[in-house]
Amino acid sequence: MVQVVDNYHNEGVDLVYEYMGWLQGYYAEYCIQRGICKQLSIIDSGRVIGVLLYYAFADYVVIYYVIVERGHRGKGYGKALISMLEKQYTAKTLFMASTSSTNTHAVGLFKSLNYTILSREEIVGRYGYSLLDLLTKLMCSYEDDVYMFKALGGAYSLTMLRKLRNYSQGIIELWHNICYKPWIDLFK
Ligand SMILES: CC(C)(COP(=O)(O)OP(=O)(O)OC[C@H]1O[C@@H](n2cnc3c(N)ncnc32)[C@H](O)[C@@H]1OP(=O)(O)O)[C@@H](O)C(=O)NCCC(=O)NCCS
Repeated sequence: MVQVVDNYHNEGVDLVYEYMGWLQGYYAEYCIQRGICKQLSIIDSGRVIGVLLYYAFADYVVIYYVIVERGHRGKGYGKALISMLEKQYTAKTLFMASTSSTNTHAVGLFKSLNYTILSREEIVGRYGYSLLDLLTKLMCSYEDDVYMFKALGGAYSLTMLRKLRNYSQGIIELWHNICYKPWIDLFK
């Protein structure tokens, strides 16, 4: 039997190591251990076959990693994970994720859920470099070049993105804890 489970234990991190590589696995584990990342899991007969790691900040929810085991892809599990997460939040929440433009399956997944996809260049063109810098910090997305956004309350809200500037201090603290510090710790 397949179930979507809230905050299942840490086996989900193994999928990050397996499919995204050790560095991403290390970042995911760091985020969970500090109580910042939470997770939803897809369980098939007691085994974790899909995981979504996320964190909430003010009215923003960052989808940090979403991964489905290779043999189970294309069956709607990625969509089920994101849909379950969306159900837990109110209409004023802005969901965001990032990936590489070459990751067509991930981009397709977010498109199928009506996320707006913007490249780094489009973000700079519309909002300026300082906002891209804040987004990159909030999502620790240095390796990514496309961003996905969805406001549950209706059309994708430009205002909510602009409002990120009001939270600069908090974003920098978060960045320090889940992005900068794990990087520095690698060299200790
Ligand atoms: C991205 C990923 C999580 C998708 O999981 P999944 O369970 O296969 O996705 P779903 O079956 O729910 O598919 C959802 C949508 O993606 C799209 N999609 C599916 N396969 C696709 C493909 N090969 N190319 C492009 N889009 C595709 C479809 O639009 C589908 O929606 P539809 O069924 O309504 O048409 C999975 O491919 C994965 O684990 N990739 C490796 C990890 C990763 O790169 N994660 C994203 C960055 S953190």
